[in-house]
Amino acid sequence: MHDNDIAEVTSLLDAAARADGRRPLSDHLYLDLVSGGDDGFAGLVAWEPGHEHPVAYAQVSTGNNSHVFELVIHPHHRYEMATIGPELMDAALDVVRSEGGGLVNWWVYEPTSAHRALANDAGMTQNRTLYQMRRGLPTERHATIETRAFIPGADDEVWLSVNNRAFADHAEQGGWTLETFRTRQQEAWFDPKGFRILELDGSVAGFCWTKVHHDGHELADPNHQGDLGEIYVIAVDPDFHGHGLGSEMTLAGLDHLTSSGIATALLYVDAANEGAVAMYRRLGFELHSTNAAFVTEVENRPGQIPDRLGAC
Ligand SMILES: CC(C)(COP(=O)(O)OP(=O)(O)OC[C@H]1O[C@@H](n2cnc3c(N)ncnc32)[C@H](O)[C@@H]1OP(=O)(O)O)[C@@H](O)C(=O)NCCC(=O)NCCS
Repeated sequence: MHDNDIAEVTSLLDAAARADGRRPLSDHLYLDLVSGGDDGFAGLVAWEPGHEHPVAYAQVSTGNNSHVFELVIHPHHRYEMATIGPELMDAALDVVRSEGGGLVNWWVYEPTSAHRALANDAGMTQNRTLYQMRRGLPTERHATIETRAFIPGADDEVWLSVNNRAFADHAEQGGWTLETFRTRQQEAWFDPKGFRILELDGSVAGFCWTKVHHDGHELADPNHQGDLGEIYVIAVDPDFHGHGLGSEMTLAGLDHLTSSGIATALLYVDAANEGAVAMYRRLGFELHSTNAAFVTEVENRPGQIPDRLGAC
């Protein structure tokens, strides 16, 4: 993608973030966009005569054994969803088709009937639901275990093995490589002190990786006053499940956020991960918003991108 395209798309993303109070692209897709696009990346920018800004942006990136599609329509053009949506969707699915096909996931924030209609017309079915949960800080009770800060380099491989075993059945968080992990560590928000590690008998038994969203930073919620602290990734080694360590690690992460002056915590959890949802509710988290994933399998067939759309 050219710098100019990235600037146009970034201002569209900013406009959507201001209108919706949240970042329109997921972390994975946003990083793929600003890094210039990994294998399988396609950014589709839709323009309309008479408008100096793009009216919509769609992106396809490669996930774990699947493609991820996301669609952002400019807040002033949402009423045109029924015409802009199918065109971008078809173009994106054509890109996937021309790259060999495969599973495509589309994540939608608080899906409306217009999203469902677009998904349905594209032959997609809803297969996952993700909750954003929040709670105020400080917590009533605090961690009773001792944790330490993550040590970049020294902890990389052992962390990766605990993460991949704990998330073996998870679509995005399982199957990470050292490269994925190290790219994430290069992010401006990355802070080893907010990445709490629990060591038991010399091995890593669990971790709670937190992420602070400063006012407007990365636009996690630009309408929110004050910083937000996210439980970004948390897991307990499967050998240690069911002994209260998950709750303790959550509290350790929340204690760290509290000591950094954060008054609101948030996290994302798969609605089907009943154990984790129950754990968070018991720790005082409440449902804040819902994301749905629609999915379809695209067969392998060469396709073409319509002229009206700029593909980068
Ligand atoms: C989620 C996870 C961190 C929980 O760790 P854990 O050490 O097993 O959790 P705990 O022993 O502290 O249990 C937490 C609470 O959840 C409850 N719970 C655990 N599994 C449950 C289940 N399947 N259904 C209902 N409740 C469940 C426990 O009863 C406990 O409640 P209590 O505090 O009132 O006793 C762990 O299962 C894990 O690493 N899973 C894989 C990674 C993951 O899903 N992370 C969360 C992503 S958002």
